[in-house]
Amino acid sequence: MKYFAFLTALAISINLHSQNTSLLNEGIPVFHGAKVTGNLPNTDFLFTVPATGERPITFTAENLPKGLSLDPTTGIIRGVVKEKGSYAVKVFATNVKGRAGENLKIEIGDKLCLTPPMGWNSWNVFTNTLDEKLVMETADAMVSSGMRDLGYQYINMDDYWHAVSRDADGKPVANAEKFPHGIKWLSDYVHSKGLKLGIYSDAGDKTCGKCFGGFQHEDIDAKVYAEWGIDLLKYDFCFVPWKKEEALSRYKKMGDALKGSGRSIVYSLCNWGLFNPWEWGESVGGNYWRTTPDIIDTWNGAPFWYGSFTSILKKQTKLDKYAGPGHWNDPDMMIVGNYGNGKATGGGGKYKGMTDLEYQTHMSLWCMLNAPLLSSCDLRSMNEATKNILLNPEILAISQDEKGEQAKLVSKQNGVWLYKKNLNDGSVAVAVFNTTKSQKKLDLKSSLLGLQGTYVASDVWQHKSAGILKDKLELTMKGHETLVLKLEKN
Ligand code: GAL
Repeated sequence: MKYFAFLTALAISINLHSQNTSLLNEGIPVFHGAKVTGNLPNTDFLFTVPATGERPITFTAENLPKGLSLDPTTGIIRGVVKEKGSYAVKVFATNVKGRAGENLKIEIGDKLCLTPPMGWNSWNVFTNTLDEKLVMETADAMVSSGMRDLGYQYINMDDYWHAVSRDADGKPVANAEKFPHGIKWLSDYVHSKGLKLGIYSDAGDKTCGKCFGGFQHEDIDAKVYAEWGIDLLKYDFCFVPWKKEEALSRYKKMGDALKGSGRSIVYSLCNWGLFNPWEWGESVGGNYWRTTPDIIDTWNGAPFWYGSFTSILKKQTKLDKYAGPGHWNDPDMMIVGNYGNGKATGGGGKYKGMTDLEYQTHMSLWCMLNAPLLSSCDLRSMNEATKNILLNPEILAISQDEKGEQAKLVSKQNGVWLYKKNLNDGSVAVAVFNTTKSQKKLDLKSSLLGLQGTYVASDVWQHKSAGILKDKLELTMKGHETLVLKLEKN
């Protein structure tokens, strides 16, 4: 019994402090991902408690709100909570190697997306080849790759799920050849895995791919999406007059329709940063908004209108004050692991993609900036390098930190950019981004970070200590590398 209690305490302390990869490798249960989740009252609730460790794991929970139940073998929590409220739940995971406990806050109220959403989007790689089989295989891959155990949750269908037209009553219809069993059947499949299903539409009468859009069909679309079991809507801006009042009124119309749909549906605004959506996105019901045009799978040199990784990154500076739990800046989906294979504009072999070290930089900064972490690569065939990037629990913990503070760019010197993000437990995440092609040395000075005293630094990518920061710490970065350090007060 004593031994058991010791293991529990050990696992909790590991989880609260730095994620220790050697313990992860030993198979002891460790919790990951969001420690807080929100849902609307009286709507379906679904949350998979993310935990790694040797299977089988038995999950239990204390203080679950009335209406919810936890499946002990999968860690999936389901049900409906009628009353608004903040529920402090304690979840436990036990296997042959040990036991871990974690606090999980369930907020039943009017906010969704209390941490940046984690998942996948079909667009960049698959464009119009999206179909039922791909969605199912991607959901399977999200589970088998271990992504679900780290908190990835959304499978988002982008453009081209549509039939040629709506039905005679104006209801949206999916393409029957691509989705032979229909979307409700598909969402049941995705939900059975503890994952969520997203869909895509447009504030004009056509989507960017010229399928039918949502304009003047907002209520019926939201209602049908709810019947289909949809959990997220990305709403685009093609075929809409480029006027701020059009953006505001059309996005609000759909935002209101989603709120009245009887389902908790996350709302993603995609008007490419026109008219500063960070200033009004939340007021129209948006949970996150694109800050730029589409990302192209290249370090720099994207064609006019599109964005490269670095041009998009630059545009995020100074947007930090608009982000927080339930409302995030979206610098577009992640291109990690695409290697130039995307079919979307600018892809298809025209751009060669980025190196693994550059993709690691991309992941580092998207996590620091609280960007939605929507992978757009083929999850069914990720190589080891891609998995190491997308499945690094330590960088994901920085993204999913409950405080929800977006990193600030605090200094630029000699081609090295320094980002700082305060975390909920009082520690500080720092990203040191070498924008140049050549190796750089940098003295990380406490004064640049506004810190005083002594800090123990751990390297989030190397999974080891990076030394002690007292006044300064000497760091070396390869060209285009980003070091991410977690600094804990000594
Ligand atoms: C673009 C959007 C992309 C993708 C595409 C679909 O406007 O930015 O992310 O959704 O439309 O046609």
